[in-house]
Amino acid sequence: MAEKIRFGLIGCGLMGKEFASACARWFHLGAGLPRPEIMAVCDVNKDNTLWFTQNVPTVTNAFTDYRELLKQDSLDAVYAAVPHFLHEEIYTAVIEAGKHLLGEKPFGMDRKQNAAILAALQRRPEVFARCTGEYPYFPGAQRVIERFRSGRLGTIMEVRSGIRHASDLDPRKPINWKRVAKFNGEYGCMGDLGAHTHHIPLRLGFAPHNVRAVLQNITKTRPDGKGGVVPCDTWDNATLLCECGAPGEAFPMLLETKRMSPGSTSDWFIEIYGTEASARFSSADPAAFHYCVNNVWSRELIGQKTMLPSITGGTFEFGFGDALLQMYGAFVAELSGADVPFGLMTPEETGRSHALLTAALRSHETGSAAEIE
Ligand SMILES: NC(=O)c1ccc[n+]([C@@H]2O[C@H](COP(=O)([O-])OP(=O)(O)OC[C@H]3O[C@@H](n4cnc5c(N)ncnc54)[C@H](O)[C@@H]3O)[C@@H](O)[C@H]2O)c1
Repeated sequence: MAEKIRFGLIGCGLMGKEFASACARWFHLGAGLPRPEIMAVCDVNKDNTLWFTQNVPTVTNAFTDYRELLKQDSLDAVYAAVPHFLHEEIYTAVIEAGKHLLGEKPFGMDRKQNAAILAALQRRPEVFARCTGEYPYFPGAQRVIERFRSGRLGTIMEVRSGIRHASDLDPRKPINWKRVAKFNGEYGCMGDLGAHTHHIPLRLGFAPHNVRAVLQNITKTRPDGKGGVVPCDTWDNATLLCECGAPGEAFPMLLETKRMSPGSTSDWFIEIYGTEASARFSSADPAAFHYCVNNVWSRELIGQKTMLPSITGGTFEFGFGDALLQMYGAFVAELSGADVPFGLMTPEETGRSHALLTAALRSHETGSAAEIE
């Protein structure tokens, strides 16, 4: 296994900084993984690269054009954390440059863009690519996955998963690219939040074959941050009811992606209900795993039972930053050829995610169930 992986970072915003912070505390992981080092950064806005050149000692180059970053032969991999409308252009360029790709969701702004990224990967099979998603790495979510895989839940009766944000409840919050369909995509809130809800279900084999969707654009205008008001044309909330499983044994799967959820912060949850037992986890109660047998729910505090070993004491509580570290760790582990019990979303799974989200748009438009093709 290599000692380090030399990363380029394209997009020096929220997620770019999270990655740099995870790299800075890599020694926190006790898994003996190669160390990711961010050698070069790129942002169209030069000011956004300053935080990196000032805080990340391994960064030796800062660019404003991603093509210049991709010319750096020394880079092994690229993390591209850019707005959705740039996914196809930048991800395919990374792949064509022969760099391994850590992409952000939705891995292409729409299904057509996603197909172009998947085609680029087929042309360069030596490139390893994955799409992010940190929530499965909470120990409580890992425990839900384990309980399902152990067969202890019996026949699955229902699955629920969702992410409930309160980020947009305040109508005075100024617009940004995530609230403009041209930059964020037609999926609206499903574009940034959707994959969080179905990464685990798709991996566990709960393949939905149809969907009934209710999409809501609740806040239709927002301040532009310069004293004016502009249209806010993205879906704020999406509720998807899917049918999974073979005919005659079908069960419902309810997926929620909400930016306007009163009382929430960023509450992600997964619930699997079975005939023998049921399991659930919510990041709003991050230390706890809930399990139901004989019709009685129990709440177990599980501490740091992480997928990748870490130096934190087993009884200490786990948080969002820890989940991100586990996620980037899982990417590096898989890239290095190690087996991980639960890897990041594969390119093929992103294709299935787009099939679901595209069907959801169709369902909302027609007011009826849409087959997932
Ligand atoms: N995994 C998660 O939990 C999570 C959370 C938030 C966002 N995201 C995803 O991460 C991606 C980025 O989101 P963000 O919140 O970091 O956005 P952001 O707006 O904070 O950062 C994006 C950065 O990209 C830069 N940029 C724009 N055009 C560029 C170009 N042509 N070349 C280089 N840089 C360019 C912007 O200047 C900005 O600094 C999106 O795909 C989003 O869905 C994931």
